[in-house]
This record gives sequence, C-alpha cells and structure tokens, in this order.
Amino acid sequence: MADALKVGIAGLGTVGASLVRIIQNRANELATTCGRAIEITAVTARDRTRDRGIDISRIQWFDTPEQLAREADIDVFVELVGGAEGAAANSVRAALERGLHVVTANKALLAASGVELAKIAEEKGALLNFEAAVAGGIPVIKALRESLTGNTVSRVYGIMNGTCNYILTRMEKEGLSFADCLKEAQRLGYAEADPAFDIEGNDTAHKLAILTTLAFGTQIAADEIYLEGITNISIEDIRAASDLGYRIKLLGVAQRTESGIEQRVHPTMVPYDSVIAQVDGVTNAVAIESDILGELLMVGPGAGGNATASSVLGDIADIAKSRPGAQRVPVLGTPAAALAPYKRAQMQSHEGGYFIRLTVADRTGVFASIAARMAENAISLESIVQRANPDSAETAKTIILVTHATMEDSIRKAVEAIKSESYLVGEPQVIRIERPKDL
Ligand code: HSE
Repeated sequence: MADALKVGIAGLGTVGASLVRIIQNRANELATTCGRAIEITAVTARDRTRDRGIDISRIQWFDTPEQLAREADIDVFVELVGGAEGAAANSVRAALERGLHVVTANKALLAASGVELAKIAEEKGALLNFEAAVAGGIPVIKALRESLTGNTVSRVYGIMNGTCNYILTRMEKEGLSFADCLKEAQRLGYAEADPAFDIEGNDTAHKLAILTTLAFGTQIAADEIYLEGITNISIEDIRAASDLGYRIKLLGVAQRTESGIEQRVHPTMVPYDSVIAQVDGVTNAVAIESDILGELLMVGPGAGGNATASSVLGDIADIAKSRPGAQRVPVLGTPAAALAPYKRAQMQSHEGGYFIRLTVADRTGVFASIAARMAENAISLESIVQRANPDSAETAKTIILVTHATMEDSIRKAVEAIKSESYLVGEPQVIRIERPKDL
C-alpha cells in the first residue's frame, strides 16, 4: 500500500470536529477504498483545550493556520476556518504556494479570490477542492465541474442556505417567530459565525457566484449579484403565498439571457407542486438546466457538521486516490486563465411573475386605481384578491396581486406610482415568482 496521505486541518469547529471523528473512526474502510491510509498529522484551532469530544492528543498542534500551512509535514491542507480574508486566505495561499493540495469549505474566500487561488493551484499542479463550499453535502461541484462537461447550461438555481430554509419552514409549519427559528438554527450549528450572512443572503450569493463560474465558464462575479435576504418576509407573506398555491424559499438563481448572465438572490415564490417547494428545513436543493442532460435536481443536507464533513472527506479521498504528476481537473471546471469575462444582465430586464402585497385604505376606487397603474405599465394580472387585514386599522385592507411574466422595470415603475397614492398604508411587499422548467 502507498504511503499514508498526511492531512493538516485548520479549524476544529462543528465541521472540523466531525471530520476528525469520521476519519479516526473509519480509518480501515478509508484505507481500503483509497488504496492508502488517511492520517491527520497536524491541527490548529482557536482554543487548544476545548472539549470537542475528539482525541487530538497524538496530533501535532500548531498555533495558527498560517504556521500549519507553512511548516507542517503534510500533503493536504484542509481549511475550515472561514472568512474571505485573514488567516483563512493567508494559509490557503501559503499552502498552495508550497504545492500542497488544499481542501476548503470556505465559500466567502472562493467568491472573493477563487480565480486567483485556482491559478496558483494550476501553476503548482496542486488540487484545490471545495465541494463543501456549496450546498453542504450535495455533490454539486463535482456534477458541474466534471459530470456536465460539454453541456451548455441555461439556468442553475437552488436553495443553498440551510439556515434560511430552516427558518422559513418552521415559520410556516409551526408559526414560530423569525428570531426563535434563527436561534435554533444557530444552536444546531447551521448558521454562519455572523448569521447576518445567512439571513441577508450573502452566504447564498457566495455560493451562487461559485456555481455561476462552474456553469457558465466566466470569471467569478460575487459583487454583481442582485441581493435581497429574508428579513423582510412576514408570516402574512408566507400564508398569502400558501393560499395562492406557492411556498416562499430563498433562492439563488443564475441564468443565461440575451444581454448577459443574470445572478440574483431573493425570497422567491415557487409553485407548491414543484419538487423544490417541498424541500424543507436545513435541506438544500440545486437544479441545473442544460441542453444535453435536461434538468438535474439534487437534494440533500445543506449544513451541519456531518453533512459538510462528508463533502470535505470526499475531497480528501479524491486526493488520496490521485496520482502525482497526473493531469488535474481544472479547479473551476475551465482552466483559470481561460475563464471568459463576466457580462452582467441588469436586474431591470429580469422577466418573471410577481406577487405584490399592498395594505390600503378601504375606499371606493382603490381597486380601479391599482389596476390602472398596472395597465399603464403593461403588466398583465393573473389574479387580484382583497382581504381584511387583521393586523391593521379596521378600515385597512390587504390587496394581493399576482402578475403574469413581466419586466422587473415595469413592476418597479408601477409600485413607485402606487407609493405616491394616498390610499397606500405602509411599504408594498414584492416577491418574485420562479417556475421550474417542467411547470
Ligand atoms: N450557514 C450555512 C447554511 C452553512 O446555513 O447553509 C453551510 O454553508
């Protein structure tokens, strides 16, 4: 049997501790599958003495990720520190410069510096694997990077943040408050160190930017994503969506359009009878639409220690099975030097259906005025309903409109026009509707 693969792990949080436990408990099975043992020979974390329920007493300790990456006698550097800059970025760069293989779950780092890191890895003949960075345990990176080669992708979209999906599901099914659901997601180890990254949509945006590059062969453009989180979604929206036959999910969507590539992250209404609408809790789902294969939908655990560690372990195993000097799969599917420039399609030209919820004074002519503002902007309505509003003054009513496919620009103009009407109470709510290909 070949020499053991020596692994150094930076970061022993939820994922790191799970990874150590799995590698230690399954040493024999891994050695058989990979044709060589996988041995953790170096670790670093913020606190050396914390009880994590794992035995690290026989593993060499380093004080910082940078020190481990520069000095440890290892073949693979596993980065589970997180963050786009600082220790994570410095240590990954240092490891790649040394020609070490790197495995990372760090979507923020890849969204910010993925192309630069891919170039270093490709120059050094090292592998840079990051399956765990997107959709936790779902092998979507491998699918896009390898299995779909030759396909022209038209759209990739999905539920890519377990914390948000967990919050939306529990709000809907149990009527719990947003704050309570978020606390529970943090307790279960799903949320980011700063949960604002989850609920404001940044985490989904980082993941989407990575998928866009893999799907369309373009430079990573994480700063060019239209972004809305879920903090504005109320129980009332969730109930109204349900009455109309929809569920609300935080989706990341990237699609090829005539004017460029549209990247957007926002709360989205999906038809109740679509598979993606039924994806609940921490589960993630990623759909890829392409010309040769058609529609591929992958569903699985999106966050948490074991799910994420499973992807990290798969990446380590791929390195264990690879041979020195062998031809490497390009880190981002296309060689980093050959990625095309990213051309952004503006959000104003997005076309789709819209849900609009308005709270209005109960006066004669309001319905007609709203319908007129829509018609002036060439917006065709699928439905318009009025209902009593239990949370507002007795005279206030809720009006809910669902549009046929229309331009974002038209919706913005119509909503602006309604905002200047004296009958409007509070802010209008606008939620985009996304339809899977088969619906
Ligand atoms: N905070 C992330 C989530 C972790 O909730 O999905 C996995 O990337």
